[in-house]
Amino acid sequence: MHIKKIVDDVYRVSVNVEDKNYLFEGIWPIPHGISINGYLIKGEKNVLIDLTQNIFDFPKEFTRQIEGAKLEVEDIDILVINHMEPDHSGWLREFCKKNTKAVIYCTKKAIPLLQAFSDVPAERAIAITDGMELTVGDYELQFFETPNIHWPETMMTYERKRKILFSCDAFGCYGNIEEDKIFDDQISQEKHEFYESEALRYYANIVATFSSFVLRGLEKLKDLDIKIICPSHGIIWRDNPSVIINDYKRYAEYSKGPAERDVTIIWSSMYGNTKQVLNTIIEVLRKRDIPVHVYQAPGDDAGYVLASAWKSAGLIFCMPTYEYKMFPPMAQMIEELLVKKVTNKKVYRFGSFGWVGGAQKDFEAKTEKSGWDILGHYEWQGAPTEADQEAIRTAVEGYCDTLIDFTK
Ligand SMILES: Cc1cc2nc3c(=O)[nH]c(=O)nc-3n(C[C@H](O)[C@H](O)[C@H](O)COP(=O)(O)O)c2cc1C
Ligand SMILES: [Fe+2]
Ligand SMILES: [Fe+2]
Repeated sequence: MHIKKIVDDVYRVSVNVEDKNYLFEGIWPIPHGISINGYLIKGEKNVLIDLTQNIFDFPKEFTRQIEGAKLEVEDIDILVINHMEPDHSGWLREFCKKNTKAVIYCTKKAIPLLQAFSDVPAERAIAITDGMELTVGDYELQFFETPNIHWPETMMTYERKRKILFSCDAFGCYGNIEEDKIFDDQISQEKHEFYESEALRYYANIVATFSSFVLRGLEKLKDLDIKIICPSHGIIWRDNPSVIINDYKRYAEYSKGPAERDVTIIWSSMYGNTKQVLNTIIEVLRKRDIPVHVYQAPGDDAGYVLASAWKSAGLIFCMPTYEYKMFPPMAQMIEELLVKKVTNKKVYRFGSFGWVGGAQKDFEAKTEKSGWDILGHYEWQGAPTEADQEAIRTAVEGYCDTLIDFTK
């Protein structure tokens, strides 16, 4: 990858995670990779905004790209650290050893983290205040605290003259970026759809828990005239930045109320008795033109289930009883949904049991504080009969009626 010019003397420095087995944050599969972007402003003083993770050859690659702008690491005068998470700051320790002069601009909350993560003394840093301006040659930087998008110390940097927002994790997405296809106007419609779906998965995996902060951040930035969004993961939005801004707003709002008119079904089955009703449920939903997304626990990765559940107004769980409780992999999946604050959903559960059941009681206890509207459940003993299938058809019909009133 080469260093890429964005506008004037503003450049993107970027790496892609090519290892298909790499788990982002140690949890999330990224079969299509993720880019880690930093930004360089070359001028009277040279500014670098965000670094890279210290994995693979990433620091070497960042160095090589900086050299592509005819600069050495030692030539950086100002280092802006929008976020101390190691995917962006992993190189900081080595960077500061090599470059002993750069002044670091970060939030007050980031300063102790500089020491803790990277052995960088507080004396090297200047704590920004919200809205603080810093003129560097022809560039007018302004810093905004945006706590919890994604860590408490996170901030964004805005360049006022060219109206560029360096948004860090916000407006980011999974997915590697191809050489010469770094801007939203350089990619096909198909690629647009891919990045938007990877943005949803990224949001659900990384940012969802902090949705109320995303809404607060969007409110704070709403009067900024933004012409270009330079996120720390994903493509640069210069043709139509409102696409990704609106996507993030929509994703954040799903946490508060209606979502899409979609249903995510998550199912588990040991011997197929619960699985036998899946098609019945799917048929009714399809007949009502409701998009259905089906995942199995165990089997499907929680990162994908989260993305689907996040955007769906409806969740249907199909799971049997296991030792008087929920089938364990499903219990784990539900726990994951609750940790990520998947809330405000219309919910139904179906499941087989052998003798007295127990899964439903466990399900209700574990989801008591979920904010889910549990509309009902249907259980049967052993294999489902035709009468069970008919009762399930009726239950799903009723469920669909409720769902329609609840969606955006
Ligand atoms: C390990 C194990 C534990 C089970 N525990 C219970 C239980 O506590 N209560 C109950 O009513 N049935 C229990 N069952 C029976 C299942 O719930 C029953 O076989 C059901 O039909 C399984 O549905 P499935 O084929 O969709 O997995 C258990 C079955 C297994 C294999
Ligand atoms: Fe982050
Ligand atoms: Fe990040």
